[in-house]
Amino acid sequence: MGHTYVIGNFKGGVGKTKTVTMLAYESAVVKKKKTLVIDLDPQGNATSVLAKTGNVSSIEKNITDGFSSGSLKNQITPIFENLDLIASNTAFRNLSKLLLQKFPEDELKQINYLKDLIAPIKGDYDAIYLDVPPTISDYSDNAMLAADFCIIVLQTQELSLDGAQTYIAYMQYLVDNYNAELNVLGIIPCMLKPSGRVDTKVLDQAKELYGGNVLNTIVKYQERLKVYDVQGIEMNENVNGKIDMWDKKAHDVFINVLDELTEHENYFIERS
Ligand SMILES: Nc1ncnc2c1ncn2[C@@H]1O[C@H](COP(=O)(O)OP(=O)(O)OP(=O)(O)O)[C@@H](O)[C@H]1O
Ligand SMILES: [Mg+2]
Repeated sequence: MGHTYVIGNFKGGVGKTKTVTMLAYESAVVKKKKTLVIDLDPQGNATSVLAKTGNVSSIEKNITDGFSSGSLKNQITPIFENLDLIASNTAFRNLSKLLLQKFPEDELKQINYLKDLIAPIKGDYDAIYLDVPPTISDYSDNAMLAADFCIIVLQTQELSLDGAQTYIAYMQYLVDNYNAELNVLGIIPCMLKPSGRVDTKVLDQAKELYGGNVLNTIVKYQERLKVYDVQGIEMNENVNGKIDMWDKKAHDVFINVLDELTEHENYFIERS
């Protein structure tokens, strides 16, 4: 049975959705693993990128109906071979209300609902990636309790570790108080500004705090990665039958990230 991963940081716009969509793509296309993305953000950014990627023009199935009906099985949209999506929609903004109605006064059931919903489909996938909004909320709680691992995105140009640190502290809180069973799989240094160098101070600080959890691969600003928001993720071949050099550069960095994360995961599995 595969594992479930949540990509986290309690700051907005640090590259969470980019990481989810690219890792899912490499997992499905390059590693040929049966992969599912569950979009838990009512803004639906991952949904829109993956819909464009698979040329899916309209998506009827969605996470809100899954949560209402108590089953995700009928809410899966195939994107292409090996890649499925459970799409989000704006109706999912009422998650808190929905959970309160379903499980009045049972907080444990409210925050464990996603985990229970994933259980029957987990065996169908090698990897499940969860994309969440950047807040401490029912979304993040449900995602963290459903996940086996969290992958943290660290914005190295922010001059602080705040978003990542808050995330790890909150994860520990859920482990201590709600029996969450997840571990940090890796911390990905990301830089989203076109200019500027890697902030080595922040990176050194992160390595001091989190040691080998910090990946060696750094995701730098790439115009092509930005373009994928509009056009969907691409891997075009040029006239010589070679992959376009900018596409290759964009994909290579996330293939490296995925390889490092897999190494960490194998280490966890060996130890347990
Ligand atoms: N390596 C990169 N190079 C260039 N642009 C990037 C890169 N990573 C992310 N971006 C862009 O930065 C913006 C924010 O990224 P993204 O949507 O992944 O952040 P997020 O953490 O999911 O945001 P939110 O908290 O709002 O969900 C997007 O426009 C995305 O295309
Ligand atoms: Mg996002």
